Amino acid sequence: MDWGKQNRLARVMGTGKTVMLAVDHGYFQGPTTGLENPGKTIAPLLPYADSVMLTRGVLRTSVDAASEKPVVLRVSGGASILKELSDEGVTTSIEEALRLNASAVAVSIFVGGDHEKESLMNLAKLVDEGERYGMPVLAVTAVGREMNRDARYLALACRIAAEMGAQVVKTYHCEDFRRVVDSCPVPVVIAGGKKTPERDALELAAKAMADGASGVDMGRNIFQSADPVGMIRAVRSVVHEGASAAEAFSALEGRTKGQGPAPSSSPG
Ligand code: 5RP
Repeated sequence: MDWGKQNRLARVMGTGKTVMLAVDHGYFQGPTTGLENPGKTIAPLLPYADSVMLTRGVLRTSVDAASEKPVVLRVSGGASILKELSDEGVTTSIEEALRLNASAVAVSIFVGGDHEKESLMNLAKLVDEGERYGMPVLAVTAVGREMNRDARYLALACRIAAEMGAQVVKTYHCEDFRRVVDSCPVPVVIAGGKKTPERDALELAAKAMADGASGVDMGRNIFQSADPVGMIRAVRSVVHEGASAAEAFSALEGRTKGQGPAPSSSPG
């Protein structure tokens, strides 16, 4: 791997464990709860994220250009929640990703979806361009409404993403998640999914880490929390310090009640 690509990947994956803050939801669902004013949401969370995943529109309008936080640029889209979600194309060129100083680009694949082939070709195209310009590619194994999130399906989708050349894969946690990780030759990070109670989201992160995940690419369970900063710090303590969900939750609760220290995890 060329130095530039290695350097970008190291900025995103760091020590091999990562807390990626996902705030790209608006690209298909518009003003998502908690992201109505993206700049206001992102700024206080950024110090605690290892990288931030977002579109160029939100990056340019809502993130300070002096920020040194590695950017994972969402470059697929073209569908909305009103239509078939798998009908995506590549929305942002590799030159634009370089201009924006992205450390990686992110593209969704819809294995089993109506537009499976197009989404896999989007990934293939980005991997080719990424190889040419030294840009790592993160593949998001998006699931359609009708698809199971079981280990058999997710292992299939993650493995295909890695075989196509993605350097990092983002997927969902599931029963028997170890099987998904073990059959995927590149690092796997998990999405948080829909907002759940904080304790449950921390359990999810802890289970994923115990099952071999390389971290989280989490959005709603952080920015829709009543205490987003406390929550991202709690997630950090699980990912980077091996805190149990109970430990992280108790630190979060202590902070909420003003009774004790925040989770000890410090900004990245
Ligand atoms: C959409 C995405 C989102 O970034 C993803 O859903 C992560 O966020 P959350 O933790 O809210 O699920 O990639 O395809």
